[in-house]
Amino acid sequence: MEATNLKQFQCENEEGYDRQSELKAFDETKAGVKGLVDAAITKLPTIFIHPKTPQNSSNNVSTANIPIIDLQGIHGNEMKRREVVEAVGEASETWGFFQVVNHGIPGNVLEEIKRGVRGFHEQDTEAKKEWYTRDSSRRVQYSSNFDLYTTPAANWRDTLFCVMAPNPPHPHQLPPVCSDILIKYSKEVQKLGGVLFELLSEALGLHPNYLNNIECNKGLSILGHYYPACPEPDLTLGTSKHADNDFFTILLQDDDIGGLQVLHQNQWVDVPPTPGALVVNIGDLLQLVTNDRFKSSEHRVLANQCGPRISVACFFSTNLLPLSRIYGPIKELLSNENPPKYRETTVKEYVAHFHAKGLDGTSALLHFRL
Ligand code: OGA
Ligand code: NI
Repeated sequence: MEATNLKQFQCENEEGYDRQSELKAFDETKAGVKGLVDAAITKLPTIFIHPKTPQNSSNNVSTANIPIIDLQGIHGNEMKRREVVEAVGEASETWGFFQVVNHGIPGNVLEEIKRGVRGFHEQDTEAKKEWYTRDSSRRVQYSSNFDLYTTPAANWRDTLFCVMAPNPPHPHQLPPVCSDILIKYSKEVQKLGGVLFELLSEALGLHPNYLNNIECNKGLSILGHYYPACPEPDLTLGTSKHADNDFFTILLQDDDIGGLQVLHQNQWVDVPPTPGALVVNIGDLLQLVTNDRFKSSEHRVLANQCGPRISVACFFSTNLLPLSRIYGPIKELLSNENPPKYRETTVKEYVAHFHAKGLDGTSALLHFRL
């Protein structure tokens, strides 16, 4: 056999070759992981199998608890506000993760958005397919694994992604089963986000409006995740290890399934479902502008056997807008002892890099480090 033919033959037998066609076949069903579950598969398709690395093994789990911060009273009581600012700063520096309670979003709205996301994923497949796309310029994108073709192993998860701000969508641009609640919930989250940016600014010793003034709160996307029950949950993940590509994320998770874990001091720590609470996690862009003072912690979601698990992740970032605003380490935080650790960039450039890289287990921030 000639050398070139031999090469081709080997290539066809390599996992990579079959993988591409398997990925394509899965993608073309436009029915996501939910479609596989509906078809009653009992074995995990190879494209979802993750290599068993020490990082992926679930043995290395700590019992530490992420902080819970009570926001009650921050608008009238100055002493209480100071305490909360300190707790938010401490949690952002050490964990990059905390939960908030008494955050002002009514419990019935939290229930309604989870029902809305579930309703989207569980509606008639034919109706859902209309929203399936990999066109990243669309303001509504339903897909399974945004990085399906680049990630080393696919995740057991489907996602509805909607850009909600700036320029809020008209209800008719959104999937009918959840359009009203998406709009209502995003208004609530924007209000809470503005308050959290104030608290974070104060924790940095800056003017309360600092982060809002540099438009960290300007863009909001909602990701409605659906993690179906998995026939072989130990072989895959719901979401691979990653850090978020935004300023911060406000995450609402299911009350009972669990599976979200944050990497803290090199150990996985469970983020337990806490009814009524919201999880806040610092994203890469806030780590960049604070010159590493706040931590964008890596996290992942385990696959589960008793789902579906629903989560609603609200990302503060303007990633779909071609905004030219430049972000770099905040000058007021820098000194001779604390020189800039990152070069300046735009949200657009940062997010393009994140997407091109996919969830491969490495940090997108490294690319911008000086
Ligand atoms: C994310 C994320 C966690 C979850 O959307 O980036 O980490 O619980 N989600 O779904
Ligand atoms: Ni995340």
